[in-house]
Amino acid sequence: MPAGSARAPRIQDMSDTSYYRHHIFFCLNQRANGEACCADHRAQEAFDHCKAAVKAAGLAGAGGVRVNKAGCLDRCAGGPVAVVYPEAVWYQFVDAADIDEIVERHLQKGEVVERLRLPAHIGR
Ligand code: FES
Repeated sequence: MPAGSARAPRIQDMSDTSYYRHHIFFCLNQRANGEACCADHRAQEAFDHCKAAVKAAGLAGAGGVRVNKAGCLDRCAGGPVAVVYPEAVWYQFVDAADIDEIVERHLQKGEVVERLRLPAHIGR
């Protein structure tokens, strides 16, 4: 279908057809050259904790939440990091309690956890 066609679906029109309500991606990247990376900050442990918490809360699956692994998200200086879509809210976290708060407030209630937001200027 040609771009700009009146029949082409627009992104904002597709929100009610999304398979998952939220997607959360955790960077699990490991670097061997000594540069900063999320794997050096227990990212795998946080990912595993999030998967278990989402499942325990009954949020996993179609219409709910999908927890996914990701490679480098290019925001390494703030690591470990995760990003929640469709809101595109970036988080940095320290421990399991932080992950629990993201699950309970953002993934369950739809509230952004402001205290864990990754500052906008943080990159690689
Ligand atoms: S290593 Fe995690 S964002 Fe780059």
